[in-house]
Amino acid sequence: MTRQILVTSALPYANGHIHLGHLVEYLQTDIFVRFQRLRGHRVAYMCADDTHGTAIMIRAEKEGRTPEALIAEMSEAHQRDFAAFGVSFDHYGSTNSDANRQVAGGIWQKLVEQGLVVERAVPRLFDAEKGMFLADRFVKGTCPRCKTPDQYGDACEACGSTYPATELIEPRSVFSGSAPQLKDSKQFFVRLEPLQQKLTEWTQQSGALQPEVANYLKGHFLDKPLQDWDVSRPKPYFGFEIPGQPGNFWYVWFDAPIGYIASTVEWCAKTGQDVDQWWRNPDCEVVHFLGKDITYFHTLFWPAMLHCGGYSLPKRVHIHGFLKVNGEKMSKSRGTFVNARRYLDFLEPEWLRYYYASKLGPKIDDLDFQTEEFVGKVNSDLVGRVVNLASRSAKFVEQTGLSASYPDDGGLFARAAAMAETIAACYEACDFREATRLVMTLCDAANEYVEQKAPWTLKKDPTKARELQDVCTVVLNLFHQIMVYLTPVLPGLSAKAGALLGSAMDYWSLAQQPLVGRPVAKFTHMMARVEAARVSEMFTPEEPTPASIPAAAPSPTLEKEPLQPDITIDDFLKVDLRVAEVLEAKAVEGADKLLQLTLGLGGDVRRNVFAGIKKAYQPEQLVGRLVLYVANLAPRKMKFGVSAGMVAAAGTDGEVYLMSPDSGAKPGQRLH
Ligand code: MSP
Ligand code: ZN
Repeated sequence: MTRQILVTSALPYANGHIHLGHLVEYLQTDIFVRFQRLRGHRVAYMCADDTHGTAIMIRAEKEGRTPEALIAEMSEAHQRDFAAFGVSFDHYGSTNSDANRQVAGGIWQKLVEQGLVVERAVPRLFDAEKGMFLADRFVKGTCPRCKTPDQYGDACEACGSTYPATELIEPRSVFSGSAPQLKDSKQFFVRLEPLQQKLTEWTQQSGALQPEVANYLKGHFLDKPLQDWDVSRPKPYFGFEIPGQPGNFWYVWFDAPIGYIASTVEWCAKTGQDVDQWWRNPDCEVVHFLGKDITYFHTLFWPAMLHCGGYSLPKRVHIHGFLKVNGEKMSKSRGTFVNARRYLDFLEPEWLRYYYASKLGPKIDDLDFQTEEFVGKVNSDLVGRVVNLASRSAKFVEQTGLSASYPDDGGLFARAAAMAETIAACYEACDFREATRLVMTLCDAANEYVEQKAPWTLKKDPTKARELQDVCTVVLNLFHQIMVYLTPVLPGLSAKAGALLGSAMDYWSLAQQPLVGRPVAKFTHMMARVEAARVSEMFTPEEPTPASIPAAAPSPTLEKEPLQPDITIDDFLKVDLRVAEVLEAKAVEGADKLLQLTLGLGGDVRRNVFAGIKKAYQPEQLVGRLVLYVANLAPRKMKFGVSAGMVAAAGTDGEVYLMSPDSGAKPGQRLH
């Protein structure tokens, strides 16, 4: 029976790049999704960026740009990274979208109608000078635990402890620097207690959760009355204002999971589908993948919201553990906090897909990236046991193709075919470790066959041509079965294997039917071996760049003219910046802003330039001084003559400051 499955990964925060820890989740989900597609099910894989909250506001402010500019750039970077690792979303949205505002509004209204929203006054820190409440991150002070100064109001970067902002020692507002006061703030809460029974049933009896998760919830939350959930924040806040409640915003975790639905709304609009077929259809299975740190948002708050909003409850919430590197927590200073981008500069994405798959079991244990083990799995499993099957057989049948009928192989093909449902059950249970282990046992049997039949020896005896073709037909068929089973994990390698054998590998049951009487393409390189040194190099700390040192206070100048997106050195070198000497300077008749400059670039090389600097400089001040000249800007015809290039200057709002090189610089020298 064809199933209909909506799968999600947690929505990554828009205030940071995708790293190897995130990829544990996105690669795991993608393997599950690709497996379900291969089985012929109808799958929608939805994700989005999680864009709201104070962390994003603060980062945007530090960088002197709007939160919208920051989240637009991050969304692009996230999607580029995911694509590079083969993560095959059907749609990638944003929580800062119209669709999300609408769906959130709908759920909110239902909660209000059901009497589940309550309003209470809560004492919060207030900046009396600025007349505003201060979200946790807008207060800094000394950590109440370890006494490190200059820590945010929610957590200490030095000792890692978390606390309410009201506990900070000597707190001050990041806006005015004044000491905040406590003031009652109107705040909205969602009551969960009336849903206790529903949630107990769903978490304990529906089978949606891993047993250890169900037990954790029972022991930590459901054994006592559920507390009201604090879902609003006073302005300033980057998020959605609550309808009818000016100055109050939904807390980021209220609208974040709604992004799963909103993303589906956008996708359905794009593809002409009805979103209710996915979210209000008892025949559609909703499956969430996420890390253990965000368990209770997805297993208490979220099902409560879905239930009250009239949506289906998740069929399954699959929770995974955290990534460690060589036994330790990922760490920036040790160099083990590696971004997806950096990984790609050193290693191949499919290696990581396979490595993670081979380590991921159905439980929520942490996963340890061990350099030696990684190298071993890539080189001996992937290259040595899988690709080797093709590289040792395909070339011998390049001329003849596969035998017309499938030869006797002593039952190898039949045994591998019979394993299909066992392997499928492992994928279904998210036990990818067991799935890949079973496939490797098939590889071992196939490699043993190759060793025993030694096609390279048969090749030397022309009377054995028929046997050689049969042996290679067997080996390539076993390779084909193995690649079908590994397609969810290794889509890239699977496509190469498919091109070799003329099989698209887009259906699980392809492993049941031998390929016969068809051509075999020329064998080309399929996968490189990894060098341990590259892995170690990747985990070596990078020199800190000035950009990564946090700025102490926002820059008013940057606010006027925000920093621009990164460019490459090649982009920069397109601009030909030169030192030039002002040989002559004079006013231009009829132009009250312009001076006409004659610039010298050494020797007799001269350029005529009109510069808008008359208000700031007298012509005679300029003659003899050195300036910075943009030499390859296309000449521009003006009313007064042709201006060849431009003189560089800083300043906004009518201010103009020419640039000067240090003494000793010579006209004509290039800036690089
Ligand atoms: N924005 C929230 C999720 C909202 S879902 C409605 C969030 N974002 S996150 O960027 O911090 O993490 C995204 C996912 O990656 C989470 O499921 C998280 O558990 C997972 N991981 C983040 N760091 C991880 C590791 N170091 N190891 C494994 N998974 C990790 O949480
Ligand atoms: Zn501390």
